[in-house]
Amino acid sequence: MSEVVIRSGDNEVVAQVIEATTGDSGFDISSVRSTLGMVTVDRGFGNTAESASTITYINGEAGILRYRGYPIEQLAEKGDFLEIAYLLNYGELPDKGQLETFTGQITRHSLLREDMKYLFEAFPHDAHPMQILASATSAMATYYPDALDPKDVDALDISTRRLIAKLPTMIAWSYKYRAHQPYVYPRNDLDYTSNFLNMMFSVPAEDYEPSPVIARALNILLILHADHGQNCSSSAVRLVGSGQANVFSSVSAGIHALSGPLHGGANQAVLEMLEQIVADGGDVSKFVGKAKDKDDPFRLMGFGHRVYKNFDPRARIIKSVADDVLEQLGVDDPMLDVAKQLEEVALEDDYFVSRKLYPNVDFYSGIIYRAMGFPADMFTVLFALGRLPGWLAQFREMSLDPASRIFRPRQVYSGPADRDYVPVDQR
Ligand code: SDX
Repeated sequence: MSEVVIRSGDNEVVAQVIEATTGDSGFDISSVRSTLGMVTVDRGFGNTAESASTITYINGEAGILRYRGYPIEQLAEKGDFLEIAYLLNYGELPDKGQLETFTGQITRHSLLREDMKYLFEAFPHDAHPMQILASATSAMATYYPDALDPKDVDALDISTRRLIAKLPTMIAWSYKYRAHQPYVYPRNDLDYTSNFLNMMFSVPAEDYEPSPVIARALNILLILHADHGQNCSSSAVRLVGSGQANVFSSVSAGIHALSGPLHGGANQAVLEMLEQIVADGGDVSKFVGKAKDKDDPFRLMGFGHRVYKNFDPRARIIKSVADDVLEQLGVDDPMLDVAKQLEEVALEDDYFVSRKLYPNVDFYSGIIYRAMGFPADMFTVLFALGRLPGWLAQFREMSLDPASRIFRPRQVYSGPADRDYVPVDQR
């Protein structure tokens, strides 16, 4: 076990190294404050791990992503989303019997309590669906209060299944409410993504058959979004859960964190950016120039990543799925061409090359979601649907870890020193 020595004046910390099986190892700084009388500072935690994790491995320099050791390329091509949800939460790919049991449990938990309708109907019709989803997910702790103990594995299994089963119904019902259309109930004869599409897009007035092309493409997209290590929203789930809040409250915090345009909200922002470019005449070089201009708040949404300093492997797969899906659906979306032009111009520009800014998972996904018929304000909700198994796996790993502690970071205080109160008539 190698070690790292940190010195300050006459004081010295010998930090034990925590060896990684693959990628960056870490060194334990838990005695730094008691020994050196100082704390470490790392804005945005770009160099800091709260703990080890066995779930997802990312090599940002090489553009590698693996769930429990399996390369994302293989899982996206050959996997089923519920199979991957099982892998993330239980650590191994399920055998045939385990997969049938898990899939059957999810299928038979997809109904919502009928009185949850009133929750959706309490929102304004123009409410953003991420706000509705975060609220409804949090409210699940009140509708399903019988399995909330985060330390009880059986309760965690029940709530995990409830969330994976019911999120599609919640998402579809919030969409139907906002669209002033009747709710469509789950159908147990359909697979997970076909059932979701049916709840989203079928109407009582005519027959509807979910497109196998769209169902298959959605399965791939959900797998690609399923987990991504200690990203902003997964860290929010862990932080809230570290205080032993229940899984619904913790996942709700993750949904809120994901909604930001620097995180999952970027997929909606990308489409809005592409529409802005097209409306402005389609000059992508002009917008690449704006993105480089420090005085211009415009950013190339869907570009750049805290970890990937190479192509995001998910973006590469989504780009090829976009070509296939649009061709199979006979959709000719000019936004795809603009996105490809934007990528080409940016990746030849030193500003982006020198900062290693490549397209990320959000750059092409919105184009596919739009071709599938989803409105732009639902793109981030679809990201949340995909990320749910990852949030649940991160919550489970943290909650069941006996070494886990409540998250309580330190600070470097830089405010006013000690001073006395001054009465208002003397200020
Ligand atoms: C996701 O963490 C995850 O794993 C997240 C995610 C997941 O699966 O959970 O992968 C999902 O959130 C993907 C990211 C989606 N967000 C966007 O596409 C928004 C646009 N991207 C950026 O805002 C930015 O790249 C971030 C937020 C993604 C990363 O921010 P960092 O790591 O804090 O990097 P930074 O802001 O410090 O940027 C470094 C430099 C800066 O320039 P300099 O100060 O060196 O001159 O790069 C520039 C930035 O100005 N820069 C960009 C840019 N992204 C970074 N300049 C123009 N356009 C951009 N998109």
